[in-house]
Amino acid sequence: MSPSRPSARPSPPRPAFHDRRGGPAPRPSPLLKPWRGVIETYRPYLPVSSKTPVITLLEGNTPLIPSRVLSRRVGGRAEVYLKYEGMNPTGSFKDRGMTVAISKAVEAKSVAVLCASTGNTSASASAYAARAGVRSIVLIPSGAIALGKLSQALIHGARVVAVEANFDACLALAKSLAQLHPITLVNSINPHRIEGQKTCAFEICDALGRAPDINITPVGNAGNITAQWKGYREYYDRGRIRRLPLMAGFQAEGAAPLVKGKIITHPRTIATAIRIGHPASWQGALAASEESHGFIRAVSDRQILQAYRLLAAEEGVFVEPASAAAVAGLLALAESGYFTQRVRSRHRGGPLIVCILTGHGLKDPERAIKSIRVPRPLPPALSTIAKAIGLK
Ligand code: F0G
Repeated sequence: MSPSRPSARPSPPRPAFHDRRGGPAPRPSPLLKPWRGVIETYRPYLPVSSKTPVITLLEGNTPLIPSRVLSRRVGGRAEVYLKYEGMNPTGSFKDRGMTVAISKAVEAKSVAVLCASTGNTSASASAYAARAGVRSIVLIPSGAIALGKLSQALIHGARVVAVEANFDACLALAKSLAQLHPITLVNSINPHRIEGQKTCAFEICDALGRAPDINITPVGNAGNITAQWKGYREYYDRGRIRRLPLMAGFQAEGAAPLVKGKIITHPRTIATAIRIGHPASWQGALAASEESHGFIRAVSDRQILQAYRLLAAEEGVFVEPASAAAVAGLLALAESGYFTQRVRSRHRGGPLIVCILTGHGLKDPERAIKSIRVPRPLPPALSTIAKAIGLK
């Protein structure tokens, strides 16, 4: 066929968007592949069909940041990465599960969703419910959730009920309400939450080209460690990774039912997100640690705050205290000689370690202010300011 002949090719598909002047919208750069959220990215692994309306804020695709400071602290040839889940649309890992839970709730024609929360679940549920146009109701332990999270639930239009009880009592109430009324419970006992949250493990493996040797995560209600382990196992079963990681979970010392092996009636810790005494996914967490030859241990509030400050001051990564529990755990393991005694013999080279940083530091600005010396106001005089900075 002569190249000069008018082509019989069909006209190109019409672009989805046009600019105001009627021309086609600019083409996205081929270097920047638009991210489509966790449901579209991992659709074959998720309980969705062509009938499921996808409610998404384009969650997921969070940074996996190499940490020089922590790699050095662990020593040897260890490589430590930080999976910064605080970079999700509402500032925590909950968005991964919520996109699936709310999409399925809308598919089931639910008009209202309900959760109990230490803060992040309520922030996420209310944002996704707002986007879907369904009502959200959240039960929170009165006076025990960080201000950023409360403000999120309120501004997204949730019906916020502050209950004079702890999280465990709020969850029991939420379960009863969902049994008695036509409302969808979106706590992590809803299996769609676990399905969505397992995508964190997929992203880690996709970024590294393998599973890490050790996956370290904070544990509260225990849904997240359960979900991550499910994700790794599914990638393993489908031949996407050749080895499974060891799962290490860390609870706060005063709220460590899984470590103590019994329900804690009055859990205490400054890490309000994980102030939980009766985790819903107790069995899931135990299975993750046992099947992976891992463990669940406790760290003190002092260790959590040290890790919290270290991450912010030496790595430039601002997380909320609960997230710092993972790093506090890593540092405690390093100090106890765990990596020299156990891990080096198992892995040639240094271990590849991922810490899951579950929530953003801006969720709880009050904690940051309490952990540092707040500057005293000074008069706007050049010499005074220069002196205060230490300049001559
Ligand atoms: N980190 C953060 C920042 C959290 O908000 C939570 C849980 C966890 C860790 C623990 O995850 O519960 O799956 O073991 N927050 C829940 C909430 C309980 O209501 O926002 P988990």
